[in-house]
Amino acid sequence: MCGIVGVVGNKNTTDILLQGLEKLEYRGYDSAGIYVTSGVNRFKLIKAVGRISDLRAKIGIDISGSAGIGHTRWATHGKPTVDNAHPHLSQSGRFVLVHNGVIENFVALREKYLADVKLAGETDTEIAVNLIAKLVERDNLSTQEAFQKALSLISGSFAFALMDTTDMGTIYVAKRKSPLLIGLGEDYNMVCSDAMAMIRETNQFLEIHDDEMVILRKDELKILTITGAEVVRKPFTAELDLSDIGKGTFPFYMLKEINDQPTVIRTLLQKYTNGTGEMMIDEAILADILASDQLYVVAAGTSENAGWASKQTFEQLTGIPVSVHTASEFAYNFPILSKKPFFIYLTQSGETADLRQVLVETNRLGLNALTITNVPGSTLSREAAHTLLLHAGPEIAVASTKAYTAQVAMMLILAKAIGVKLSNPQAVTLDLVRELGIAATAIAAIVDMKEVIDDLTYQYTEDTRNCFYIGRGSDYHVAKEASLKMKEISYIQCEGFAAGELKHGTIALIEEGTPVIALISDLRLAPHTRGNLMEVYSRGANTLVIATEACAIDEDEIVIPNVHPLLTPLVTVIPTQLLAYYASLHRGLDVDKPRNLAKSVTVE
Ligand code: AGP
Ligand code: GLU
Repeated sequence: MCGIVGVVGNKNTTDILLQGLEKLEYRGYDSAGIYVTSGVNRFKLIKAVGRISDLRAKIGIDISGSAGIGHTRWATHGKPTVDNAHPHLSQSGRFVLVHNGVIENFVALREKYLADVKLAGETDTEIAVNLIAKLVERDNLSTQEAFQKALSLISGSFAFALMDTTDMGTIYVAKRKSPLLIGLGEDYNMVCSDAMAMIRETNQFLEIHDDEMVILRKDELKILTITGAEVVRKPFTAELDLSDIGKGTFPFYMLKEINDQPTVIRTLLQKYTNGTGEMMIDEAILADILASDQLYVVAAGTSENAGWASKQTFEQLTGIPVSVHTASEFAYNFPILSKKPFFIYLTQSGETADLRQVLVETNRLGLNALTITNVPGSTLSREAAHTLLLHAGPEIAVASTKAYTAQVAMMLILAKAIGVKLSNPQAVTLDLVRELGIAATAIAAIVDMKEVIDDLTYQYTEDTRNCFYIGRGSDYHVAKEASLKMKEISYIQCEGFAAGELKHGTIALIEEGTPVIALISDLRLAPHTRGNLMEVYSRGANTLVIATEACAIDEDEIVIPNVHPLLTPLVTVIPTQLLAYYASLHRGLDVDKPRNLAKSVTVE
């Protein structure tokens, strides 16, 4: 988490830093700061608690300079205060550092090297900047040498941008585990956590690999390994459209992204099918999956829910067993693997540290893997043998919506391609292009029902502190996603349950007026779910039903169009996204940036 930006050699540095931080705000937004320099020992360091708008307000009159670094924070060590906000100055005032990540041995480093140093705040980052200063003073090292030495002493994760106030022309950059990229301007250079931050300035970027450092100047850049060997690397062009990053006329990104979903499905079809309706997936990916005896889908949060929503369909269309795993648990508790495992990393951002930890291990074991991600060039994409891109366009709202639908659709496309190779009868007969087209139209129709859903949200969640989603089969997996969405942006305690499971304990929580929302999209299971709904209704629950036309009865509140039975997780989720959106909106919350969260979770 945290967003880092840096510029060297451009007289509009302040503007570039602030605009860049605004684009990175989704990564963390509890405090922010910038350091801008206009000459040796001539600089401004401004920090504020809150959003970039709070920082802007504090800057007030324009500050100018031609180099600088900036940061938007998601606190790991120390509360969101001005003292803990980045950039951090060394005690001597000579060095200034921004950091994304966690320095695991900060206590040991402080005891060993910095016993005499007075710290301003509680962050691990302050240890790093003072360590560099100490190595310069005590061992008479150059800034570059001290930086390099500090990197070898630090354990944990970091993306660093360091400046020396006695040299306004250099930014020292390094990374391990946390993301960081170099942006190439004309006669100036930049550094940022995500290409999105600098796409207004350039589409030319350069990757930095783990344990590399970069010496960045106006017209020069040198990449070195942590041991000092020089590295040569070509830039790449970031395929990002500036217009994708705006929210247009929508009040929040989340609503825009909910609306984007039909287009996302159509774009995926265009990218992965040919004119005759065949799936077009890289043969090397298909070959690796066909050679495996079990697929391990590793993911977190909404992406994990997308994995669960895809599991049964994938198994039906391919006959290959699929297991879905919580990345943070998998990383340190590897189960006994099948003889020929194949790993799929499902991740919107491609940066989630919990997944990366597993990928590092599967790479070490020599296992090929596939990353399904929305972000080209992201860490998990680069480090896995294969990538399938979701082509959903940047997802900015912290609450994931269109990435979920893109992941479920992508898994369907992949399953169909494999199933056809295996002559699986269900895969062969499934006209996926047609069925996904129908699903896209259905999603658009559900989004058009938003006023009705807005009213229902008001009726059901206005005063509630908790609520439940229930469902069976794929509706259960969507219930889990629905509840995650509701809690993360409305702060209503909301749980997703297998409908039949409630009576085994949780039903004790049902009181007069507790909202219970049932998802019903499977005719076979509908009577059972309705039975469970009656059980909670009899105990005072305020029940609401989201049902497909085929399963609906007259009293149901939200009736959505039918789609192919394998595709229901694509449509049942849509009303639940809107319910969460309106619940957050009615409570006057910042829908796109819920408290305590960040979009891309780059710490374990
Ligand atoms: C989704 O609404 C969440 N904000 C979160 O659960 C997210 O899905 C999770 O952190 C995984 O992120 P990824 O897809 O970028 O790996
Ligand atoms: N550990 C640093 C801090 O707490 C950086 C946090 C992060 O990257 O999320 O300030």
